[in-house]
Amino acid sequence: NWTMGDFIEQQVAEIREKVGDKKVLLGLSGGVDSSVVGVLLHKAIGNQLTCIFVDHGLLRKGEAEQVMKSLEGKFGLNIIKVDAKDRFMSKLDGVSDPEKKRKIIGNEFIRVFDDEATKLNGIEFLAQGTLYTDIIESGTATAETIKSHHNVGGLPEDMQFSLIEPLNTLFKDEVRHLGEELGMPSDLVWRQPFPGPGLGIRVIGELTEEKLKAVRDSDYILREEIKNAGLEREVWQYFTVLPGFRSVGVMGDGRTYDYTIGIRAVSSIDGMTADFAKIPWDVLQHISVRIVNEVENINRVVYDITSKPPATIEWE
Ligand code: XMP
Repeated sequence: NWTMGDFIEQQVAEIREKVGDKKVLLGLSGGVDSSVVGVLLHKAIGNQLTCIFVDHGLLRKGEAEQVMKSLEGKFGLNIIKVDAKDRFMSKLDGVSDPEKKRKIIGNEFIRVFDDEATKLNGIEFLAQGTLYTDIIESGTATAETIKSHHNVGGLPEDMQFSLIEPLNTLFKDEVRHLGEELGMPSDLVWRQPFPGPGLGIRVIGELTEEKLKAVRDSDYILREEIKNAGLEREVWQYFTVLPGFRSVGVMGDGRTYDYTIGIRAVSSIDGMTADFAKIPWDVLQHISVRIVNEVENINRVVYDITSKPPATIEWE
């Protein structure tokens, strides 16, 4: 009778055996998979694990702080946090094409990771949060985890890594249970999917600090209210987007000409198909009022009522 507890014990033993007294490197994205790998490896080999967490400035509000507080603070992981916001913003300056934005973010992510990794000495292993599903449907690499075919391109030739992929026999829901068994907070373990390019693809078209802030702040309000309404586990994914246009509104006794926020919330099993979530009107109304009142430069809120297909979940 196989349990998660047995799995942990068995993995810890295997990892110790494989790693010996050598050092391991892990790219942390803040997502479920790499976080669980981090905690599992730390349990097995403690400070022989070094993590690199690239903050590209496109994370949700409070996300970087939450990752550091939990993984470094509570679990004691050794994390190098790289504040790379300026690097990403300057590379993205003036770029509006969605595919170009994705490519730039993905490439820069790997570059920053490589730069940091090169500074470290004596690393023999690279750990990755590869899942069983990633192996089956290979080719769905994301910027979120450094998948093997991206394989640390910029590193010196003599720096050869062996891979450690402790989750590669598990499905997503098993990884979540593993995380719970390891004592990780449910906020982290039950986190909704978040794309590697982050808020960079939730501001439609060219990025500006102002638009990023509006998406980040409105997303935070949406998350708070979904939680308050007890819908956190019911709605599969929910976020806000900022289409690049402005429209006329009226506030107090003045005319406004400001941006619109779109709310996207879906029910889905695996993200391949999705239906828009039937969030109660009063919850949506409350969210709308809060966003217009609390988020700068926003005077209108719309709700996306398209399914996937024909629309995708993200807007870019
Ligand atoms: P779409 O927009 O294609 O999204 O319907 C399906 C799911 O995939 C997520 N997504 C991404 N995840 N890197 C990721 O790690 C990406 O570039 C990316 N693009 C979309 C999206 O959030 C949704 O859950």
